[in-house]
Amino acid sequence: MRHRGGSYPVVIRPGANAELAALLVERHRDHRVVVVSDTTVAAAIPSPIDSAERLSFPAGERHKTRKSWAQLTDELIALRCGRDTVLVAMGGGVTTDLVGFVAATFLRGIPWIAVPTTTLAMVDAAVGGKTGVDTRLGKNLVGAVHHPSAVLVDPVLLATLPERHYREGLAEAVKHAAILDAGYGDWLLSNVAAIALRDVNVMAALVTRSLALKASVVSEDELELGRRAILNAGHTVAHALEQATNYVLAHGEAVGIGLVLETRCAESTGRCALGTADRIAAMLGSLSLPSEPPSGLDASAVITAMQTDKKNRAGVVRAALLSKFGATLRDDGKWTSPLDLDVLRSLL
Ligand SMILES: NC(=O)c1ccc[n+]([C@@H]2O[C@H](COP(=O)([O-])OP(=O)(O)OC[C@H]3O[C@@H](n4cnc5c(N)ncnc54)[C@H](O)[C@@H]3O)[C@@H](O)[C@H]2O)c1
Ligand SMILES: [Zn+2]
Repeated sequence: MRHRGGSYPVVIRPGANAELAALLVERHRDHRVVVVSDTTVAAAIPSPIDSAERLSFPAGERHKTRKSWAQLTDELIALRCGRDTVLVAMGGGVTTDLVGFVAATFLRGIPWIAVPTTTLAMVDAAVGGKTGVDTRLGKNLVGAVHHPSAVLVDPVLLATLPERHYREGLAEAVKHAAILDAGYGDWLLSNVAAIALRDVNVMAALVTRSLALKASVVSEDELELGRRAILNAGHTVAHALEQATNYVLAHGEAVGIGLVLETRCAESTGRCALGTADRIAAMLGSLSLPSEPPSGLDASAVITAMQTDKKNRAGVVRAALLSKFGATLRDDGKWTSPLDLDVLRSLL
């Protein structure tokens, strides 16, 4: 993965976890290693480095907060960690976002390595350098761009992941196909059976394809001044759905539904090829993911939540929209377009 400050290796293969010790020696010789996971991952997956200290924080999006950031930071200070410390963020996207942000700010920045353990973190969160925490008013409102020094993806680690979390991450892979690569969408469909069985080789291929797509966008626009916004497809509505359901909907589930709803809005205003939303919904269905908002949803709460989205400009809610399956819409030179809230409300 290339970025402004250089580049870092992304190792994707079954059994890669066993290579962490060698990678640490290669990239951070003589560094003190602190492995950080949430409590669930700490119980499910043994530390890959015997000699490393291990810290944990309570599992769940509810704990991707400044409070967890402060606690982990205080623990590093109590351990008298210096700038010769490297953090290993071993866990899902909550862990890579939170620990990456701790690394970004501790002593003004120390290195970190991402070892994603959820589908979602493997195909998306661990790569790209975005780190941060949520606040009560919205997700990811405080953060930094701080790239890991390496990413190690071992699909074997998915074995202990609960089924629902295993599935939800696949929505980000559908997103990558929908915004950039229709052929990848066909590949996903022809591999649904192996994906459902968590075939480690198929999952390694899936992660490789998703991350190549993501990396091509990120390395061209690291600070999201332009085109990187397309990676937020589905997310304007998704973040609002997560908030309005008090995070009962998992992030990936919300992304799938958000992608369908945003695409329906684009179709209904003539900006996207008809049938695109149905195609995405069918793909989500074959991966056992929801494509419709849950019943009993408070539509006003969703609309209100969208008003604080980071992509808003001058009070207008904007979203990265598709022009067809596999391509994004460029609107007046911009990579996001206004989202028609009346149309959206009618779909909720
Ligand atoms: N930085 C980015 O570019 C980016 C991109 C996409 C998503 N994200 C963020 O990622 C977060 C969601 O990540 P997530 O879905 O991975 O959630 P998560 O980190 O909360 O993990 C989901 C659950 O699975 C458990 N778990 C993780 N790995 C396990 C394993 N191997 N075995 C057993 N249990 C395991 C966790 O304890 C947790 O309860 C969101 O906060 C989202 O904003 C960030
Ligand atoms: Zn996402």
